[in-house]
Amino acid sequence: MKKMGQLYEGKAKKVYATDEKGVYIVSYKDDATALNGLKKGSITGKGAINNRISNHLMAMLEEQNIPTHLVQELNDRETAVKAVTIVPLEVIVRNIAAGSLAKRLGLEEGLKLASTVLEFSYKRDDLGDPLVNEYHIKALALASEDDLRQIKEYSLQINTILGDYLLPLGIELVDFKLEFGKTDDGTIILADEISPDTCRFWDVKTHEKLDKDRFRRDLGGVEDAYKEVLFRLMGGL
Ligand code: TMP
Repeated sequence: MKKMGQLYEGKAKKVYATDEKGVYIVSYKDDATALNGLKKGSITGKGAINNRISNHLMAMLEEQNIPTHLVQELNDRETAVKAVTIVPLEVIVRNIAAGSLAKRLGLEEGLKLASTVLEFSYKRDDLGDPLVNEYHIKALALASEDDLRQIKEYSLQINTILGDYLLPLGIELVDFKLEFGKTDDGTIILADEISPDTCRFWDVKTHEKLDKDRFRRDLGGVEDAYKEVLFRLMGGL
């Protein structure tokens, strides 16, 4: 497979066309941003670590019948993925109050939610990815009713599968963000990434943060936290 022209550059990844129909290449960057791009930095090795973490988790999800964009890891920081049109929604799944939910509703971080919370943000960097509900999604045609139903079903299934997978590795799945895409034939599949950039992972015993909050909140040890997640996924504990 030959890498062709760059199609898109995001905050953490670049996407390239290829000479193969229906296949793109994503390239993970070490760049890190927070606060909707206001805080900028770089985390050494992050691109390669997130590439491996995301591919490992997506392969695990595929085995559990969740369709994903994963085709094949190509090298340290590049992966071949199915070409999709991204649904312009960020789906946020929460099990424990943290981050913007804790702030918005005045909850203590760490409060176990009585049931799973699903939220949607409209993917619009210029607006700071505002929260939207299902009425907005319908009114603005951000996703069809069928697609939204499928996205919600997959998101809740992923929460259960991922949470159950991580717990024995000593990782609590606090919350995470998903993005879905549509292939040419109209199928909804999981896209983007699942990594410490897009999830809150806490150590089960110590509640130590093993995710991007270390960067967002200047806690230090960012690279080590990402490495620790990869180490545990690869069978170390
Ligand atoms: P939040 O508490 O800041 O709303 O974040 C909820 C989850 O979504 C958290 O695991 C981080 C992830 N997330 C992203 O991946 N990208 C984003 O742009 C935002 C705001 C959150």
